[in-house]
Amino acid sequence: MTTCSRRLFLLGTATTFAGAYLAACGKEPSAEIAATEIPLGSAIIVDKVIFAQPTEGEFKAYSQTCPHQQSLITKIEGLTATCTSHYSSFDLATGEVTGGPSPKPLTEYGVENDGETVRNVSS
Ligand code: FES
Repeated sequence: MTTCSRRLFLLGTATTFAGAYLAACGKEPSAEIAATEIPLGSAIIVDKVIFAQPTEGEFKAYSQTCPHQQSLITKIEGLTATCTSHYSSFDLATGEVTGGPSPKPLTEYGVENDGETVRNVSS
C-alpha cells in the first residue's frame, strides 16, 4: 500500500498536481461480487468496476471510467462496453478499444477469485 507523505504531496507543481496526486495517492475503486452474479459472455458494473466473464470461469475487471474524458461507462451489451458520452466502445475480453475516440484501452485490474467471490485488486 502506498502512503502519501507531506513531502510527496508538496512535490507536485500546480500543473502536475492533479496527475501526480492521483498516481501516488489516488484510490482505485474496490468492489466484489458473487461469481455467480457475473453473466457468462457479458458483464456487470459494481461500485465503478466492470466485472466480465468472457469464458466460463474466466473473470476480468476494468475501471468503469472511460479513458477518453473520464465519463462513467454505463452501457454493456454482451462483451462490449460503450461510453455513451462520445461512443467509445471496448472489448471486455481484452479491454481494447473497438470504436470511438478513446486513445487508450480500459484500465484493467487484477482479479481475486476464491471460488465464490470475485474482487478487483491492483494489477
Ligand atoms: S468520455 Fe467516453 S467516449 Fe468520451
